[in-house]
Amino acid sequence: MRLSVIGCGYLGAVHAAAMTSIGHEVVGIDIDPRKVDALSRGEAPFFEPGLQDILTEGVASGRLTFTTDIAAAAGAAVHFVGVGTPQQQGGHAADLSHVNEAFDALLPHLREGDVVAGKSTVPVGTAAGLAPRVEAAGATLVWNPEFLREGWAVQDTIDPDRLVAGVPATPAGERAAQVLREVYHPAVAKGTPFIVTDYATAELVKVAANAFLATKISFINAMAEIAEVTGADVTQLADAIGHDARIGRKFLGAGIGFGGGCLPKDIRAFAARAEELGRRESVAFLREVDAINMRRRDRAVELVVDALGGVVHGKKVAVLGAAFKPFSDDVRDSPALDAAVRLNGLGADVVITDPQAIENARRLHPQLTYEVDRDTTLRDADAVLVVTEWDEYRRQMSAAHVSALTHGRVVVDGRNCLDAAEWRAAGWTYHGMGRP
Ligand code: UGA
Repeated sequence: MRLSVIGCGYLGAVHAAAMTSIGHEVVGIDIDPRKVDALSRGEAPFFEPGLQDILTEGVASGRLTFTTDIAAAAGAAVHFVGVGTPQQQGGHAADLSHVNEAFDALLPHLREGDVVAGKSTVPVGTAAGLAPRVEAAGATLVWNPEFLREGWAVQDTIDPDRLVAGVPATPAGERAAQVLREVYHPAVAKGTPFIVTDYATAELVKVAANAFLATKISFINAMAEIAEVTGADVTQLADAIGHDARIGRKFLGAGIGFGGGCLPKDIRAFAARAEELGRRESVAFLREVDAINMRRRDRAVELVVDALGGVVHGKKVAVLGAAFKPFSDDVRDSPALDAAVRLNGLGADVVITDPQAIENARRLHPQLTYEVDRDTTLRDADAVLVVTEWDEYRRQMSAAHVSALTHGRVVVDGRNCLDAAEWRAAGWTYHGMGRP
C-alpha cells in the first residue's frame, strides 16, 4: 500500500521505516529540512536499535522517501499523523499546535476514500474535534495510538502486543478499520489482538496505559521511601510481590524514577484534561505519582551529598548515565541528567558519561562536563553515581576495576542495578534506593 507518515520524530521515523520493511511504499513528511535530509540519506537521526538497518534498506529499495513537501502525501491510501504533543510551556496540558498544523496542512491533499490515522498521544476528545474536517474531505479519521517503547521501537511497531483503532460507528469507520488491518497485515495474520473502539476509548487506552505504568513505578518507589525508614529492602519486596501473577514483577524497578518524552508529560496532560472534564478527583492520584517520582531525584542527590559528608563542593562525582533509560540516547526529562544538574548546582565537580546520550545531553546542558570514556570519568572520583542501567555499568564494570580508578569508595546506585554484596566486599560504601 502507499502510505504517508506526517511527522518524522521518534514515532514517525520508526513508523515510516517499519512500514516499508513490511512491504509498503512510504513517504515520510516533516517540516524540519535537516531531519528530512538525514533520513533521505538513510541516516537514523537518533539511536534506536535496529532502525538504521531498516532505514538503509528502505531508502535503498526506493520505497521509502522523505520530503518537507506535504503535497507528497497525495495519492497515499493511509496518512499517519505522528507529530509531537509536548507539555505546554508554563502548564501541564498537552500542546496540540503540531497536531493542528499537521491536519491543516494535510487536509487539502486528501482524496475521496483516504484514511487518516492519528498516532500522536492526544487528550481525549481531540479526534472527535478533527473528524468532521477529515470527513468533509471525503476521508475517514481513525485513532490508532502507538505503544512503542524507546529501545524496542522497531520490534514494537512491526510486532506490537495489541493494535487499537478508534473509528466512527459508520460503514466508513468499519472500512477504515479494515484498511488498517491490511496495513498491519503481518501482525494481524499472527493473531495480534486488533481492538476496534470509538475515538474516546482509543485516545484513553493510550494515556491510561502510560498512567498505569507510571503509577506502578511510583508505587514501588513509594515502597522504597518506606523501606528507607524501616531498613527493609525494596528490591526483595518487589521480587516477592512480583511473584503474584496479578501484580507481576515488570515495572517494579525502584530507583531514581521515570523520565523520557512520554510518561511524565502524559500523566500531567491526563490530569489537566480530567480537570477540564470536571473529573479532577478521578485522576488526582496522578499528581501524587508525579510527586513521588520527582522526590526520588531529590533522594539520589541527597544520598550522594550525605555520603560525601554533607558538602560536595569541589568533590568529583562521576555520573554514569545521562539517557532516561538504557538503549536510548534520549535525554528528555531524564532523571539521570537532572541529578547531575542538581549536583553541579551544589558545587560538585560533576563528570558525566553515557554510551549514547552525550551529544544530546551536551546540547541541553552545555555547562556540564562530559567524558566519552567510562574509566576516564571514574578516575579520581570521590563518589560514583549510577543513574542509567546500561550494561556498561551493570554487567561490564566490576567493583575491583573501579577501585583502581577512583579516589573515594562511595557508590550510589540510582537504579538498584549493581551487586551490592560485590561492591561492599571490595571495600565500598554502597547506597541503593530503598535498600539498607
Ligand atoms: C513509554 C511506554 O512504556 C510505551 O508503551 C509508550 O508507547 C511510550 O512511553 C510512549 O508513550 O510513546 P518509553 O518512554 O520508551 O515508553 O519508556 P519506558 O520503558 O516506559 O520507561 C520510562 C521510564 O521509566 C524510564 O525512565 C525508565 O528508566 C523508568 N522505569 C521503568 C523505572 O524507573 N522502573 C521500571 O521498573 C521501569
